[in-house]
Amino acid sequence: MKHLLSTSDLTRDDAIRILDIAEDMAAVSTREVRKLPTLRGITVVNLFFEDSTRTRISFEAAAKRLSADVINFAAKGSSVSKGESLKDTAQTLAAMGADGIVIRHPASGAPRVLAESGWVDAGVVNAGDGTHEHPTQALLDAFTMRRRIHGTASRGRDLAGVKVLIVGDILHSRVARSNAWLLKTLGADVTFVAPPTLLPNGVGVFGVDVDYDLDAALARVTPDVVMMLRIQQERMNEAFFPNGREYSRAWGLTAERFRRLPESTLVMHPGPMNRGLEISDEAADSPQSTVLEQVTNGVAVRMAVLYLTLAGESAGPNGGAE
Ligand code: CP
Repeated sequence: MKHLLSTSDLTRDDAIRILDIAEDMAAVSTREVRKLPTLRGITVVNLFFEDSTRTRISFEAAAKRLSADVINFAAKGSSVSKGESLKDTAQTLAAMGADGIVIRHPASGAPRVLAESGWVDAGVVNAGDGTHEHPTQALLDAFTMRRRIHGTASRGRDLAGVKVLIVGDILHSRVARSNAWLLKTLGADVTFVAPPTLLPNGVGVFGVDVDYDLDAALARVTPDVVMMLRIQQERMNEAFFPNGREYSRAWGLTAERFRRLPESTLVMHPGPMNRGLEISDEAADSPQSTVLEQVTNGVAVRMAVLYLTLAGESAGPNGGAE
């Protein structure tokens, strides 16, 4: 695998392979074995044109645990403010020896342009592009579901029949798009739940069920997973409807709604969370919440993705470590 741009590019076997390698990475990524030699001599550039806490730090931790050299680039404070283009920025970093580029960019499609333009010869990993895709978030979400649902028997398994509600600002959510493609590929039953103003035109292309009423969806589906999405106020205009209070009452995972869920239902959120808007403290901090587990699992999943895109696979995931 030279690049990871979209979960829609992954077959079921591809996805299961990534998740299984992430299991290997999670198993070796312990306090006793903090580093593997797998990517020794490889340079990974984190090229971030948008803010990030989880994804950027997680990729940095993943690359370092595989012994790669890491260069962190943030558009803020760089020559992007002087008008330097993506092409010139990427070629400048490639000239300093970048073997892999992990890119977050506000323009949907920027990672694919970088991968397919021939500007650079590096492997490209999409770390979130506009409202388009966030494939490693979807992979870590699937990894988290698989572990919680199948436990130690996770390896080789998909998510057939797992009922997932993805709730909230679908319109602006690259997490929702990447999850829809991946979860469908893995056999899950996916429902988008959102006000009509926060659903994209042509939502039918995802092949998921759609519901406008969260209470009706919760009564109809009895979900195994409720994935709450962040309201992306930075991508909205003043006329956002419904407003915060209306939104929370109708589509938020309030304490009252959370108490109605079965105890086995997982509560997921990619972060960062708007507490009190799309999710209550009671739900976010409950034992059913996997929010921090998702962050932990993200490192192992990103180790697997960096290994598959950047290592000579003959070395094996642990690069010869004992
Ligand atoms: N989930 C996620 O992408 O978070 P960050 O924006 O903090 O990377």
